[in-house]
Amino acid sequence: MLIRDSVAVVTGASRGIGRATALMLGAAGGKVVVNARTRSEALEQVAKTIGGERAEVAEGDVADFAACGRIARAATDRFGPVDILVNNAGNFALKNVVAMEPRDWESIFQVHVFGAFNMIRHVLPSMIQRKRGVIVNIASFVAVRPPGPGRVPYAAAKSALIGLTRALGLEVAPDRVRVVGVAPGLTDTEIVRGGLPNVPERVSRVPLGRMARPEEIAHTVGYAIENDFLTGETVYVTGGE
Ligand SMILES: NC(=O)c1ccc[n+]([C@@H]2O[C@H](COP(=O)([O-])OP(=O)(O)OC[C@H]3O[C@@H](n4cnc5c(N)ncnc54)[C@H](OP(=O)(O)O)[C@@H]3O)[C@@H](O)[C@H]2O)c1
Repeated sequence: MLIRDSVAVVTGASRGIGRATALMLGAAGGKVVVNARTRSEALEQVAKTIGGERAEVAEGDVADFAACGRIARAATDRFGPVDILVNNAGNFALKNVVAMEPRDWESIFQVHVFGAFNMIRHVLPSMIQRKRGVIVNIASFVAVRPPGPGRVPYAAAKSALIGLTRALGLEVAPDRVRVVGVAPGLTDTEIVRGGLPNVPERVSRVPLGRMARPEEIAHTVGYAIENDFLTGETVYVTGGE
């Protein structure tokens, strides 16, 4: 699908990979709805950088089904039905299972797995009806190659997202809607800078010797959107890890 003139929603677009993805979509001529939990200055700035006439801010927690309905409606009201959905919003916490409460699992699954479903459920009917749509789910290499302890719910949630991508890709292929995963490796964002101890040691274990730049992940999202024969698969961008 051509990004130019398509209507896109990017969740978690106030910083990091989501921000880079929203800016990439805007630069490619898309109309972009940028989301994060709150209408922060950072989020407004992303919309401003894209350009007011082609960007809209829609705050809301993706874990909340009704809020996702409002995000999808904000896109439709402003630009028309959604062609591209990037499920990017994510959270992370480093904790071993023996120290966990059910709420630790819930907070991760609510955002990554329910959040993706909540957004998909609101945009998919129109994609199916119009036989036009691409859903990109931002997974993680941690699902298949956890680089250390403390990542069990995160790995499980991202594995769920990879399974969702595969199964939904199959389900909606006859409707010409595509579902693609992008699984980043270690990427230079706040989730890493604020969530991991000893980042330099962690970086030293990446074969290419550095973190990905958010723009490199966004580039792969663009590729996933524009390659019309790609569906059900998850593309790994890991620097060799
Ligand atoms: N960085 C990495 O190394 C890496 C590797 C693999 C996969 N990933 C995945 O890539 C995605 C983006 O991560 P990032 O590294 O760019 O993280 P980040 O810099 O922390 O950005 C996360 C974004 O998600 C938003 N967000 C968090 N919870 C939300 C919710 N419930 N509803 C709506 N928005 C929410 C945040 O904004 P607010 O806080 O303002 O809501 C922010 O815009 C995540 O799914 C992450 O798991 C990252």
